[in-house]
Amino acid sequence: MKTQLAVLERSQSDPVLEFAQDAVAGLTDSPRWLPCRYLYDERGSQLFEQICDQPEYYQTQAEAAILERRGGDIRATTGPVTLIELGSGTSVKTDFLLAAYTVNGESIRYVPIDVSESALQVAAERIARLRPTVRVAGIVGTYESAFPLFRGHSPVMVVFLGSTIGNLNVTESAQFFTDLSDSLEPGDFFLLGVDLVKDADVIEAAYNDRAGVTAQFTTNIFARMNRELGSAVDLDQIRHVAVYNSDWQRMEVFIEFLADQEVKIGPLEKSLTVAAGERVMIEISRKFVIEDLQEHVEHFGFTVRNTYFDDDRRFGLLLMQSAGA
Ligand code: AVI
Repeated sequence: MKTQLAVLERSQSDPVLEFAQDAVAGLTDSPRWLPCRYLYDERGSQLFEQICDQPEYYQTQAEAAILERRGGDIRATTGPVTLIELGSGTSVKTDFLLAAYTVNGESIRYVPIDVSESALQVAAERIARLRPTVRVAGIVGTYESAFPLFRGHSPVMVVFLGSTIGNLNVTESAQFFTDLSDSLEPGDFFLLGVDLVKDADVIEAAYNDRAGVTAQFTTNIFARMNRELGSAVDLDQIRHVAVYNSDWQRMEVFIEFLADQEVKIGPLEKSLTVAAGERVMIEISRKFVIEDLQEHVEHFGFTVRNTYFDDDRRFGLLLMQSAGA
């Protein structure tokens, strides 16, 4: 049976044209870059799921272990709330929270939000089968487009897992906290998963897995340009480079060109040349010091109620409460 999902604002603009415009803007900038959201077409989303299964990508297991162990404590702190999850994907790790909130057969509402309708369908069907007291009301859309709906569900706990906040730069992240804070009622909760600053070798290994899945994931952005924009990039002449920048406490992921190449942007009838040795920045993944973050979120009206860690203190969850905008 198909679950009904609410679809928010199907974009009016042509997505291929938008991709072409963003590609030209980023590739003609200095230094060159591409927006990381273009990593996630169907192929990229599959590859990301495979990354989460790689032994070097400790983040997924570490966060799941915290949720499994501390779900009951999180529930005891928030009391009964609607769970709203940003970028929920197939909601696999969230199941530990759903289990904790329904342990005595209670009913709760769960609002997963994701751009992928198929991922939401998979999640909704699994939850209906395994957790019959969870009422799922999925939303297809970006989480920004769903912010205005949050107040109607209060009391809520907004959940943002996987350290996806780390893919936003400092300005984008501040905007995110401002918008979220404006969308919550006083007393609402926010549960945030973050990857912590640690030994650079451990972090770098997570983005350079031996099976080469992350390299395929990064390279896929140019494969996608070939498919959708007719870019004709020789994928054998580019390579994935991922390095930890300890000054900025972030991973930086690039595509490096191994030969001079012309990159065509078909829909705009443009082309540009990238020289051998040049790098295009594809993604940043910031890592956090929990005390700094704790102080930072206070500027946006959040009070940290609890912090949780895995045994090796590789990953953290912050449970905070909004004082209201
Ligand atoms: C989705 N995001 C939190 C991942 C990360 O670790 O920054 C994306 C990723 N990129 C390469 N590996 C994983």
